[in-house]
Amino acid sequence: MRQTVDRQELVRLVKDVYAKVATEPRGDYHFEVGRAVAGKLGYSAELLDQVPSEAVDSFAGVGYHFDLAELQPGESVLDLGSGSGMDAFIAATQVGDTGNVIGVDITPEQLENANRLRSERFQNVGFRHAEIGALPFKDGSFDVAISNGVINLVPDKAKAFEEISRVLKKGGRMAISDIVTEKQLTEGIVCDATLWASCIGGAMQQDNYRGAIEAAGMRLVRTRDNSEYEFLSESAQGASEEFGVKSVSLLAEKV
Ligand SMILES: C[S@@+](CC[C@H](N)C(=O)[O-])C[C@H]1O[C@@H](n2cnc3c(N)ncnc32)[C@H](O)[C@@H]1O
Repeated sequence: MRQTVDRQELVRLVKDVYAKVATEPRGDYHFEVGRAVAGKLGYSAELLDQVPSEAVDSFAGVGYHFDLAELQPGESVLDLGSGSGMDAFIAATQVGDTGNVIGVDITPEQLENANRLRSERFQNVGFRHAEIGALPFKDGSFDVAISNGVINLVPDKAKAFEEISRVLKKGGRMAISDIVTEKQLTEGIVCDATLWASCIGGAMQQDNYRGAIEAAGMRLVRTRDNSEYEFLSESAQGASEEFGVKSVSLLAEKV
């Protein structure tokens, strides 16, 4: 039976699901987790071999956007909803010792994994407990913001994009992968806690998503669909087919 809950409850459920992903990555979810899905989405074996395997095992992203981000040595990067840290560690290898990466997340179990896996090789990475809608950073702190499968889970997306834009330098890039929809979801799907936490219920209609990015002061440079990304369960697949729920990767620039 489906569970109907309010928005605060949804965030609590999101934390419950991703605490479980952090501690039991081989569990049963509506979505794929781990190295196989990362490979399917475009991460090369060479890239994955450079970062702690436990971080790869807990990967729950929905796309690949490092080709869009084009990270350069010395850049400062913010990973929004960094999970167990896979993307943050990859970013760290690309920006090198003169750059730095900060990952933020709201799920303690994910942050614990990420901090535990941060070995000497990754002294240029840090992880903090922070909510995307209220980032604890000064204006213009970062060259690049990355995020994988996260903004759909945030109830106030306009505020999330405003915060991302605020902490980016002028000309800074946002390279993200996320779930959007072709058709507006019905209230029944949006209030289905399980579908929300599985990256479906909170997905925004794609034109509104683009509008929220632009309203926050960023210019969309490129967007592409990730047809390789699939939901696993029947209920997730049904909602996905009916409303055109899909994964996209995009690059935007702060104007
Ligand atoms: C689908 S997982 C993706 C994790 C990671 N990016 C990856 O690719 O493996 C979503 C992550 O976003 C975090 N998250 C959800 N809502 C958030 C928010 N409002 N602020 C910060 N992190 C959030 C969750 O705790 C979870 O770790």
